Amino acid sequence: MTTMSPSKLALRGDLLDFTGTPEWAVVDAAAVRFRPDHWLLIEGGRITGVQPGDQAPGADWVQHDHRGRLLLPGFIDTHVHSPQIDMIASYGAELLDWLHTYTFPAEMRFADPAVSQAGAARFLDALLASGTTSAVVFPTVHKASADALFAGASARGMRLVTGKVLMDRHAPPALCDDVAGAERDCVDLIERWHGVGRNAYAVTVRFAPTSTPAQLAMAGQLCAAYPGTYMQTHVAENRDEVEWVRQLFPQARSYLDVYARAGLLHARSVLAHGIWLDANDRAAIRDSGAQVAHSPSSNLFLGSGLFDWHAAVQAGIHVSVATDVGAGTSLSMQRTLADAYKVQALAGQRLTAWKALHSATRGAAQALGLAGEIGSFDVGCTADVCVWHWASGAVAERRHALARDLHERVFAWLTLSDERNLAAAYVAGVDRLPAAAAAPQEVSG
Ligand code: GUN
Ligand code: ZN
Repeated sequence: MTTMSPSKLALRGDLLDFTGTPEWAVVDAAAVRFRPDHWLLIEGGRITGVQPGDQAPGADWVQHDHRGRLLLPGFIDTHVHSPQIDMIASYGAELLDWLHTYTFPAEMRFADPAVSQAGAARFLDALLASGTTSAVVFPTVHKASADALFAGASARGMRLVTGKVLMDRHAPPALCDDVAGAERDCVDLIERWHGVGRNAYAVTVRFAPTSTPAQLAMAGQLCAAYPGTYMQTHVAENRDEVEWVRQLFPQARSYLDVYARAGLLHARSVLAHGIWLDANDRAAIRDSGAQVAHSPSSNLFLGSGLFDWHAAVQAGIHVSVATDVGAGTSLSMQRTLADAYKVQALAGQRLTAWKALHSATRGAAQALGLAGEIGSFDVGCTADVCVWHWASGAVAERRHALARDLHERVFAWLTLSDERNLAAAYVAGVDRLPAAAAAPQEVSG
């Protein structure tokens, strides 16, 4: 695999992206930009133009002909836990039991820097093999786990937002830090990685129950001291969790308010779940410019609840979609978006293919303040581009052949496809699809 983008690269295929935000439940959305059989022109790893398929670029361009395939901006997974691919698909527990029974033991192994390094490599390759080129990631409490992710993402050219997990109570002692040591680790990681290449630091509060008020205050001070950094956490995921937070923080109006009081609710906050929010919380999120990372497969798997996406839209909140592996059951954004459709169907709502895909591309980029950089084929964006087979297998092929219009075709693709449809994953103009994903091995036995 070459690791340099050719200085001039042209990709041919069916280009689909968004020029704005599709409206809720509108199938004929004006924000959809579909350019069947076009060349996407890339110079020095950035998008410089688009032209029709029958106007081939000159001989000085390297040409990759993906005619008959779907080209999308690389997906952005706004909430996922790197160590949890080791315990994904663990049986039988709701959130708080699940954390203690499966999650914390898996995360303890990452104290060993060699485990952190190998785990980061496996995780980042798995993201790429799912067509995800940018992610907002929880590693573990160990500084080495964040270091390994930043280094691994840099080696692959991916855009990564992460930071060491903050956790100084209500977790096994081997996974607890302390305020002063955690602050030193965060400052060191910020100074070494934030804004270096495509990396950005996120002040990473696991969730309110595992941080003391002193640690939350320190985290808020870090956000203020380093204004370009992100903040990521969980909020209002599970009813027992919400009740526990109410008991731990009696002075706060709500779970969300615990974060707001500590200076952790701002435009660069990524709040996973947000199922059990009230109207005041929604207004506070809207006013802050923070986003909710909706994680439907996780919410179904742990039985956490059904996120009211339409209420969030009505409140004017940015909503992105995230896998939340390992409570989520797949790194595939298509599978996750298909689950999001089903969650909304249970509420009598309909999630269009456009709203779904936008939330995992341009919408997520916009909520992260990165719309000029990722999430679309706008000229000037980095060329993070995934190439997808429109159909894989007899059923999908038949459905694809019978689709009557573009929304029907894309909705069927979204519902029936997964990482097995991925043909190439360009990161800044370099195909980084791991070899094992590109050429599946036969399984015997
Ligand atoms: N809340 C606190 N930690 C976690 C986690 O690892 N996964 C999920 N889904 N929720 C959490
Ligand atoms: Zn999570």
